[in-house]
Amino acid sequence: MNRISEDVIEKIRNTIDIVDVVSEYVQLKKQGRNYFGLCPFHGENSPSFSVSTEKQIYHCFGCGAGGNVFSFLMEIEGLSFLESVKLAAKRTNVELPDTLETHQTTNQSSRASKMIEAHELLKKFYHHLLVNTKEGEKPLEYLINRGITRETIDTFGIGYSPSSWDFATKFLQKRGFSLELLEHAGITIRNHEGKHFDRFRNRVMFPLWDLQGQVTAFSGRIIDSGEPKYLNSPETEIFHKGKNLYGFHLAKSHIRKKQQAILLEGFMDVISLHRAELPFSIATMGTALTDDQIRIIRRNVDHVTVCFDSDNAGIVAAYKASSLLRAAGCEVRVALMPEGHDPDDYIKKFGPEKFRTNVIGASLTLMAFKLQYFKRGRDLQDEADRISYIDEVLKEISALSKPVERDHYLRQLSDEFSISLDALKSQAYQQYKQQKKRDNVPSSRNNISTRPTMQSKMRPAYQNAERLLLAHMLRSQEVTEKVQQSLQGLFNIEEHSAIAAYLYAFYEDGHAPSVNAFISRVEEKELQRIISELSMLNINEDISQQELADYIKQVLNYPKLLKIKEKEQERRDAERKQEFVQAAQIQMEILQMKKELK
Ligand code: GTP
Ligand code: MN
Repeated sequence: MNRISEDVIEKIRNTIDIVDVVSEYVQLKKQGRNYFGLCPFHGENSPSFSVSTEKQIYHCFGCGAGGNVFSFLMEIEGLSFLESVKLAAKRTNVELPDTLETHQTTNQSSRASKMIEAHELLKKFYHHLLVNTKEGEKPLEYLINRGITRETIDTFGIGYSPSSWDFATKFLQKRGFSLELLEHAGITIRNHEGKHFDRFRNRVMFPLWDLQGQVTAFSGRIIDSGEPKYLNSPETEIFHKGKNLYGFHLAKSHIRKKQQAILLEGFMDVISLHRAELPFSIATMGTALTDDQIRIIRRNVDHVTVCFDSDNAGIVAAYKASSLLRAAGCEVRVALMPEGHDPDDYIKKFGPEKFRTNVIGASLTLMAFKLQYFKRGRDLQDEADRISYIDEVLKEISALSKPVERDHYLRQLSDEFSISLDALKSQAYQQYKQQKKRDNVPSSRNNISTRPTMQSKMRPAYQNAERLLLAHMLRSQEVTEKVQQSLQGLFNIEEHSAIAAYLYAFYEDGHAPSVNAFISRVEEKELQRIISELSMLNINEDISQQELADYIKQVLNYPKLLKIKEKEQERRDAERKQEFVQAAQIQMEILQMKKELK
């Protein structure tokens, strides 16, 4: 798996400066000993993302992201560990073993890379036909009529497939591609007589890229009318419709910069929005949004504006897509157009300026969109319809986490239907309680690991003690040894005892304290985040014996305190049942346990 030796990785880690690498993605400003900037992993307006030159790690106080230079590259570029090491190595003069290169390319099977090569060649050929030949005149005119400029044609590699049964087949066969491969790639089709012919004939050709920007398929639009309007490559080894987003490789850097994405339904829309100077646009390929696509979006951005066709099907699809994105943790807005338009023809009709201000600029919050959406198919003059509408909306409002937001929409509802605000509030609260019962809300313990920083002020003493112990242990082998003797793995928080275990092994292997080196040994991203956060804590470098003993005691006492609480409950139960003798006995036990605490 890991073909690069520890030594080489260490050399790279020690040569590279994390500040240089992060600076390519984030604007950093020096503040005291650290650098600060806007976190690239979540949307924010004031900088809580910090990078330490000294420790060579990063940490976001807002979302908890953190790690060393490799973790950063993995996260921001969506790479594997090995790939991140390779990318980092490029900035140093540390040489990687040759075997690694071959190992990596065989990662993509040789057949798959052949298929991609065929698509890349064919793309150039189709493009040439469109822009340079007589045959291309009519399709070119079609595109120009649709308002697509020559520049856009080049950016999107648009081309033309001639009206021939074997042009692409011959072209690629001559270049050494086997018929069998072309068939598997979806470029040719074999009929029942076993004869191969071109899949795409007399169509405007749109190359489809994978996330890395390699052409893996085509979609061909018919020039006049006819069926099907768009013909797509089939699913192949290299093309998975549901794992792709059209235009992603072009949009990615803009999405990161803008911290925003616009999700569209058709790729013609993406092309139009690029022209309208909204290059952070991507599209599904006319199918429902898949989990894979949601994951791709989520990895890259927090804020998504969904802008689908404004016909019935489009609005239903927008509702589904935006709900899914919201559930995945995105901040979603929905942009609507006059009925019957799609973004492409809106821009053509009213111009890019109007689209930016009246459609994208006037987009609705998800809740505001839902308020409209639920009105569909209901007659609000009808009492039963009205009541069921209010019911449905209240369910949504009660699920909002911000009180201010809940209040805002409740007031709106109260005004619209002349219902008292108090009545709405109490019904919303009922809904909330019911929902909570149904969901079986996760315990706060689970939240601690995913959002370590958010809860800093509410952390109980034993947790703070564990965190401070670990923070000191990361800086000192001596402290670690003491903790190992008296506490071993008895941290109350699972993640903390895992970190301690890694740390014991790290020092036992003869390493000197270094968060940067240590973090590389820890595979779990969640632990990496906690480690980087702890190492960023402002603590006194020296810890007195007394302090150390106090922390250890707090950690050891916590499970006992829990036990005492249990006992106290038992005692109260006994008292309620008037079993006074037993209650007294339990009280004795409690006193004994309390004594043992000190
Ligand atoms: P234009 O009519 O050229 O403006 O295209 P459009 O973007 O308005 O297309 P539409 O809204 O009809 O469809 C949205 C997306 O669905 C397209 O980008 C295609 O990916 C897909 N699609 C549309 N029609 C077909 C079809 O006939 N076959 C297939 N396979 N996909 C289609
Ligand atoms: Mn259209």
